[in-house]
Amino acid sequence: MSGEHSVYQPAEDTWLLIDCVSQTQLSGLVVEVGSGSGEVSRFLAEKGAEVVAIDISYAAAEATRSKCGPFLSRVHVVLGDKLSALRPSERITLIVSNPPYLPSEGITDRAIYSGPTGAEFIKDLIEESTPFLEKKAKLLTIASTLSSPEAITEYAADKALQVTRKSSRRLFFEEITCYELSKATE
Ligand SMILES: C[S@@+](CC[C@H](N)C(=O)[O-])C[C@H]1O[C@@H](n2cnc3c(N)ncnc32)[C@H](O)[C@@H]1O
Repeated sequence: MSGEHSVYQPAEDTWLLIDCVSQTQLSGLVVEVGSGSGEVSRFLAEKGAEVVAIDISYAAAEATRSKCGPFLSRVHVVLGDKLSALRPSERITLIVSNPPYLPSEGITDRAIYSGPTGAEFIKDLIEESTPFLEKKAKLLTIASTLSSPEAITEYAADKALQVTRKSSRRLFFEEITCYELSKATE
């Protein structure tokens, strides 16, 4: 499905997403887009959630399956492209993603590079998530100052989505932030 690359190992952005997830009430079905090593999906499963863990990389899907071994009765690992395998449903209450967000002219590693601005993957994810948010799901996603986060928040606002900055961490070259997106209340 994709050119195979090494599986992304948990890093600061992984821990930031887990930190935000830990502050979120879990119910229904939680979807992780880009599950990588499986660390986030495992955390979700340990908290009792039923999880659909999606990754486009076969090696990552295998790593997720292995990491979530004791919880495979409630972690469904899917080899797929973002949310394309799923239909919007009220059962899906939360979508979480630590997406590839680094800018690059050529995609040499799909685990980290998104496209020329770095915002391409997140914009596509917001687009695909919108029908799920219409059904009251929330999207938690990580963005970096290296990938024009204003473009992402403006894009979400254009789609009439409510954007909340949940938590940030300053790293050596960048600041990473976890955003929560939901359908704006009228
Ligand atoms: C930055 S890594 C995050 C991995 C893990 N969730 C974590 O936080 O440590 C991004 C992941 O997204 C996956 N990915 C890239 N493009 C994808 C796509 N179109 N659909 C699903 N997953 C994708 C990559 O294979 C990679 O595992």
